[in-house]
Amino acid sequence: MNTIWSDHVQGIDTLYLTRSLRFNDFFKDQYLQHFALDRKKKLRILEIGCGPGALAESLHRRYPCAEIFGLDRDSHFISYAREHIRDVTFMEGDATALPFGNDSFDVTISNTVSEHIEPSAFYAEQRRVLKKGGVCLVLSARKGINLPAPGLENSAYERAFWEKVNMYDHAMEDYQVCKYPMSEAEMPLAMEKYGFTDIQTNYAVIPLTPDDPAYSKEMALRMINAGRHCAMDAVYSAIRTVPEHVSRVEADIVISLINQKYDHRIQQYLHGEKLWNTNVSLTMILRGEKP
Ligand SMILES: C[S@@+](CC[C@H](N)C(=O)[O-])C[C@H]1O[C@@H](n2cnc3c(N)ncnc32)[C@H](O)[C@@H]1O
Repeated sequence: MNTIWSDHVQGIDTLYLTRSLRFNDFFKDQYLQHFALDRKKKLRILEIGCGPGALAESLHRRYPCAEIFGLDRDSHFISYAREHIRDVTFMEGDATALPFGNDSFDVTISNTVSEHIEPSAFYAEQRRVLKKGGVCLVLSARKGINLPAPGLENSAYERAFWEKVNMYDHAMEDYQVCKYPMSEAEMPLAMEKYGFTDIQTNYAVIPLTPDDPAYSKEMALRMINAGRHCAMDAVYSAIRTVPEHVSRVEADIVISLINQKYDHRIQQYLHGEKLWNTNVSLTMILRGEKP
């Protein structure tokens, strides 16, 4: 049982809530255009490093004829995805030793995974399981815009809490998170080097601005609450990762401060007080084919 990522790096809520916004149907045209897959075909699609499954879930909505598989090393993510998402086959497994035969998929796809896995192994396994002419899609989060609402910044108590946690929390280095970062130019070069052709690069721009009237109330509240749950997940992760340095009482105080701030932000939204805070995510979509 491997639960390293969900326990120490990013929790289920952080990944599921942020990704279900990023892959929301509101933005589907950009993905459909850049993935350039035939929606009428019975494609076999494998998502690598699927986490709790938000991208796989959106793929099922957009490619209803396809057979979709999601694979991740983390047992918590796979249990969550199996319990909450229908019509996708989720399994535990290692991206560098995929449990599938040669030439068995039409499409492989991953989101914010390539930077964590040694690139020759990452691409070799996808090339092996893809059919000739199969499509490899690599999605990578690039630097976007994050402008939090005034009032959501950390209080003095929270700042002191995080300074202490950061002094002792080495999870990112210990678990080789982001060990293989690449620039927007290095990514297509690596894909080509490891055996793919017809490479294209595109970008999806996802503006999450709760006060923008383009978004329904339900979606605006989900945007605000995603921030709340990411902040709370980080506290739970700190308790698990450096339990000898943070007490449950301190963590409970931080959770209560987070809830107060986000409850206030929701009241501001409900009363029509516009703050125009925004989070614009920029996702690079790299597309290559197996020759
Ligand atoms: C940043 S998270 C992204 C998760 C998901 N793609 C999403 O966007 O919500 C990276 C994921 O890659 C998974 N992962 C990292 N190395 C892996 C490997 N060698 N095999 C399978 N999964 C791996 C982690 O468990 C984690 O779920």
